Amino acid sequence: MNRREFFRTLGFFSIGLSLYVIYKNLTYLSRPPSKRIFLSTEELKRFGRLYLGDEFILIKKDNDFSVYSRRCPHLGCKLNYDPVEELITCPCHKSKFNLDGKYLEGPAKRDLNRLSFDVKDTGLQIDL
Ligand code: FES
Repeated sequence: MNRREFFRTLGFFSIGLSLYVIYKNLTYLSRPPSKRIFLSTEELKRFGRLYLGDEFILIKKDNDFSVYSRRCPHLGCKLNYDPVEELITCPCHKSKFNLDGKYLEGPAKRDLNRLSFDVKDTGLQIDL
């Protein structure tokens, strides 16, 4: 392969790689919308201060709500609630958070990830 052929091959490779990157970004942008969960007003009345969903943690304080991802901000383990300490805890590396989602201790080093939600007339819609 001479020098000219080498640079031609390199050019074709670069164009191919660029097209691949553009294609991957376009498919990323066209992902389906995020998942939503709806809790009816009746469901909201049934639980007390805290509700552990499969993918979220809902905390009720007075007439206000806070919703957090149930994934630990450290490496993504599923968080639990410790009713004795009244803290949200991670079973993997023992990070702890208070009920305001604030980081207290452990390797997570940051607060829980908040999830957005909408209060509707008939309940609460959570964006996962
Ligand atoms: S995954 Fe939760 S502390 Fe590591």
